[in-house]
Amino acid sequence: MRETLMMSDSQMEYLNLIAEVMSIRKRGEEPLAYVRTYGCQQNVADSERIKGMLGKAGYRFTENAEDADFILFNTCAVREHAEDRVFGNVGALKNLKRRHPQILIALCGCMMEQEHVAKRIHDSFPFVGLVFGTHCMHRFPELLYKSLVDGTRVFLRDNDDQNVYEGIPTSRDGQIKGWLPIMYGCDNFCTYCIVPYVRGRERSREPGIILSEAREMIESGYKDITLLGQNVNSYGKGLTPRPTFSGLIGEIDRIPGDYWLRFMTSHPKDCTRELIDTIADSEHISLHLHLPFQSGSDRVLKAMNRHYDRQKYLDIVNYAKQRIPDVSLTSDVIVGFPGETYEDFQQTLSLIREVGFTSLFTFIFSPRNGTPAAQMDDPVSEEEKGRWFRELLDTQEEIAAARCASMVGRLEKVLVEERAKKPGRLCGRTSGNIIVEFDGDDSLIGSFRHVRITRARNWILTGELAE
Ligand code: SAM
Ligand code: SF4
Ligand code: F3S
Repeated sequence: MRETLMMSDSQMEYLNLIAEVMSIRKRGEEPLAYVRTYGCQQNVADSERIKGMLGKAGYRFTENAEDADFILFNTCAVREHAEDRVFGNVGALKNLKRRHPQILIALCGCMMEQEHVAKRIHDSFPFVGLVFGTHCMHRFPELLYKSLVDGTRVFLRDNDDQNVYEGIPTSRDGQIKGWLPIMYGCDNFCTYCIVPYVRGRERSREPGIILSEAREMIESGYKDITLLGQNVNSYGKGLTPRPTFSGLIGEIDRIPGDYWLRFMTSHPKDCTRELIDTIADSEHISLHLHLPFQSGSDRVLKAMNRHYDRQKYLDIVNYAKQRIPDVSLTSDVIVGFPGETYEDFQQTLSLIREVGFTSLFTFIFSPRNGTPAAQMDDPVSEEEKGRWFRELLDTQEEIAAARCASMVGRLEKVLVEERAKKPGRLCGRTSGNIIVEFDGDDSLIGSFRHVRITRARNWILTGELAE
């Protein structure tokens, strides 16, 4: 049974104890933490909670691992390349630990939920003192305290714990854009994907808690809030009475204020016309739909266990285009799934041409230990997959360039996010999540402005302030 529980008082108490221990060790100086995050926004949101807890334990943050008393890598397991990067970067800490033996090095996140990875860290990286999986976040204070005080290595994975923990302090990285997790885990078991194994079963946060967190974010000045989940469209499963995602986002939309609301990720099998209608009729929901299709071939989609076909995908996209004429569509796509032929791949290319995506996240299939696809016959060579991949990138570049070029002359509402590289220039995003650069003063950062689009360079627009 899954329940919603508050992080316990004893965990909060550990944060005070850590502050005392570190204050003695650092002779009153504030301890420094370096937190590096790999992977998706879910991991970014988790790191923000870890930083929230570290902040309550008296830590400040540094961008330089060399200065830190505590180093944490929050890891991602989605592709082999992501894991290799983590192993490489952890290996590089060996010398630092030799020079500064008092540093505590810790690893957490999706990779650490895999038994073989935790074992490899245990056996081959003896300078790593603390390892914990995604299900143990609410016990981080206790684990950190034990590693600091007992001086023994602490390893914890607990993927039987399927509860939702609330009340964990959060320290968000930005003040304009913020992530708001609405659910954790995934029940879909796409045959290529490791996420359900490392993040556990899908579990939703209570709508009342999400609404009050959204209200707090809006009141404290966030202008761009993204609701997070692996499949937001199935939000509410397991809660009684069962809320729906359209209902939830519709309610958040009624909170007064000047802000945009985004969400990711939508799974096409559960993306309803009701959701599209909610976006079309809303005041704050951005005109952007991230709807990963993964492959344009029905045969491959079936082997991926995606539970929709090309036609169903196109039906929902066409409905979105009809109800929201300016909708900006983005997607994820995998090239070289086991058994995919060049003809299947051509179906993917024809789908991206038919839809006209603003941008794509493109991946070459990476076999993941323990997933069904890792056992499937995969006769196409990596070189061949590389050629298909480049063909995909070239095709998408043309599509994105044409889409951006069609925006020249338009007046766009833009959220001003930061300085651009060039002095005197600012960088912002449209509701469709397209980057726009224009001349302007720093005082505009964090506000919505209207910008006339004057030029398009591939997927970046340039413009002039309209006021
Ligand atoms: N839940 C989201 C969905 O279903 O669209 C996606 C989450 S996953 C973290 C992000 C993307 O990584 C997926 O959409 C997929 O394109 C890609 N991906 C996942 N597993 C992969 C694998 N084994 N090889 C290559 N790409 C993969
Ligand atoms: Fe992975 Fe599929 Fe779940 Fe997305 S929906 S996280 S791709 S299993
Ligand atoms: Fe990676 Fe875990 Fe996200 S595997 S992509 S960090 S859910």
